[in-house]
Amino acid sequence: MTTTRIAPSLLAADFANLQRDCELVNNSEADWFHLDVMDGVFVPNISFGMPVIEAISRHATKTLDVHLMIVDPDRYIKAFALLGTHNLTVHYEACTHLHRTLQAIKAEGMKAGVALNPHTPVSQLSDIIADIDLVCLMSVNPGFGGQSFIENTYDKVRELKALIDAKNANTLIEIDGGVTSKNAEALVDAGADVLVAGSFVFKSEDPTQTIASLKQLVTS
Ligand code: DX5
Ligand code: ZN
Repeated sequence: MTTTRIAPSLLAADFANLQRDCELVNNSEADWFHLDVMDGVFVPNISFGMPVIEAISRHATKTLDVHLMIVDPDRYIKAFALLGTHNLTVHYEACTHLHRTLQAIKAEGMKAGVALNPHTPVSQLSDIIADIDLVCLMSVNPGFGGQSFIENTYDKVRELKALIDAKNANTLIEIDGGVTSKNAEALVDAGADVLVAGSFVFKSEDPTQTIASLKQLVTS
């Protein structure tokens, strides 16, 4: 039995009803909260920061999976740990000394993730894969929810899975962007362990049911 995790992205939630949407995720079959932090520099959009994450962490009862789309993430590692973050993901393209950054995240007691933009080859991680708890493959260009899924992602998942197996690593593969019931099964077949879904969940008529049906699709 495969146990694919579903991680609703709160970027698509109703920010005026954040507590309600946190409770919705708590009471659903979702596994993680995916929280997208954007700085308007690394990506052309600004989302939310510490005060909002602090508010979410007061209500969320599941793993907080924080995706940093910011330059110089090292400056904020401790702050995110103090907010109750479980998984902290930084972008490969934003880190000059990635190995040092990952060690710093783990030293704060968090799982260390690395996100790859659609144009960044999986092979860039070959010398560091054993140090990564989670690789987030971006299946859209980071910065916005509601974009369409980039089909080349399937090949990247397979290549990453092969790299993880070749190095005997325990790294999880997370897919972020444009995930729907149309691509979920194929992503899991290719090797995905975690599916992030924003618009597909929160813009649906019944988000709880949408999460349940996604979970059902990827459980076999
Ligand atoms: C994009 C974010 C994603 C986004 C996914 O920059 O990293 O997590 O919220 O949203 P959807 O599922 O709508 O593509
Ligand atoms: Zn994300």
